[in-house]
Amino acid sequence: MKVSVVRRYESKLGDSDFHPYRTGAWTPNTVEVDATDLDVIAGEIPRDLAGLYLRNTENPLFEAITGRYHPFDGDGMVHALRFQEGRAEYRNRFVKTAGLLAELEAGGALWAGILESPEASQRDGWGARTRMKDASSTDILVHRGEALTTFYQCGDAYRLDPYTLETRGTVHWSEQTQGNPGVRGVFPKGATVSAHPKVDEQTGELLFFNYSKEAPFMHFGVINAEGKLARYVPVPLPGPRLPHDMAFTENYAILNDFPMMWDPERLAKNQHRPVYRPELGSRFGIVRRDGTGSVRWFEASPTYVLHFSNAYEEGDEIILEGYHQGAPIPKRLEGETAIDAFRKSLDMRELQTRLHRWRFNLSTGQTKEAFLDDEVTEFPTIDNRLGGRKHRKVIAMTGEPGHFLFNGLVAYDVERGTKQSYRFPEGVFASESPIAPRTGARGEADGYVVTFVSDLGNDSSECQVFDAGEIARGPIARIRLPHRISSGTHATWVSEEDLAKHRAR
Ligand SMILES: [Fe+2]
Repeated sequence: MKVSVVRRYESKLGDSDFHPYRTGAWTPNTVEVDATDLDVIAGEIPRDLAGLYLRNTENPLFEAITGRYHPFDGDGMVHALRFQEGRAEYRNRFVKTAGLLAELEAGGALWAGILESPEASQRDGWGARTRMKDASSTDILVHRGEALTTFYQCGDAYRLDPYTLETRGTVHWSEQTQGNPGVRGVFPKGATVSAHPKVDEQTGELLFFNYSKEAPFMHFGVINAEGKLARYVPVPLPGPRLPHDMAFTENYAILNDFPMMWDPERLAKNQHRPVYRPELGSRFGIVRRDGTGSVRWFEASPTYVLHFSNAYEEGDEIILEGYHQGAPIPKRLEGETAIDAFRKSLDMRELQTRLHRWRFNLSTGQTKEAFLDDEVTEFPTIDNRLGGRKHRKVIAMTGEPGHFLFNGLVAYDVERGTKQSYRFPEGVFASESPIAPRTGARGEADGYVVTFVSDLGNDSSECQVFDAGEIARGPIARIRLPHRISSGTHATWVSEEDLAKHRAR
């Protein structure tokens, strides 16, 4: 393996930092490196695996302003593993957000984190809550050959070269609204994008949403295959909500109104404390992707959903699949410390996340819903070529009790109702694990599952490749990374074939 250090960042977290999300698997990375000819320590890299595994992570460089850190405050850093002709190369770079650059210049934190009051921020900023730093650390996807990173509380979408990970700036869709008569709706300057935009690989469109404290509280938008804003329409909600994900089918986008919100009484005093109000029920808003017609709302059992796996149309029905939470805000027990309560809030077993299917009947307006599995899993990925179309295969992660860490993989066949599982060894934690179709793949999930793992026992990381059809066998290739990488949230796969289409432009 040949490694070159590109840049070392000075970390000012202090030696006395024992926060559970700044230590162990969450110890931040502060060095950017390039590495080629990575060592394959077991198995062999398949020659028909060609593309990039891209992983976004959270890496704080500075102490939180008032010392109340949350893992989602960390600055976005993307790690990329490129597979080509049986070889692998790696690089990692911070997303050079406006917030990170300003804090580097100031030499300290300028924006309050999630657990701190926005009033502690020294500057105006981003985020549905307002006055936050847009860390662009939550999600990553590839649209039109370019990687886009986004932030869960809404911010700019940052554009990155998928190979070099160089930050190219932010998207400027508001500027496209002028002089473009085909646009339905106006994307105002300063409007933001939530994490989890979706790419429809069959049409090349990018679908997105955002949310805020201002009426109508949510918007849905479409960027066309040419990269231009095509639609931006309101999805009016009864008040501010805290959505995280959306879904789409061939003709519709599916937004949501879950009873998860900032406590309205506290919000009136500019305090932001999430409350869950199950008595309000859940609603799903179905809107045509062409922007015509109004939002159709479907009622459903109360819950909160962090992630949907997919949605599709079947006859009169729209079928949506995702992770229903049994306890969106886990109960705080008597005598429990604040840090334990905080750990529980990120523990999928406490949230009781189970794969669920909703069926919305467009003729009758009725909703039917049912669990697909009893096991607690989350962070679903599908073969992205089937986004918005009927799928069978879902890869999901199992959670380590008491932590926001993934200790295993589950591969579902949701049509047959079967699954395969793989459990990582003790102390080894994986990343979100997308399906990587083999070059010239013939069917759904014909290929591999790719993930990064960190081994706390020897402070190291690997990339592991699984056969998508046989994950229970364990990894078929293990590739050593040049350093241990921090845990994070989302990852994606993009094939060399897809990137080549856009390079020719
Ligand atoms: Fe997410």
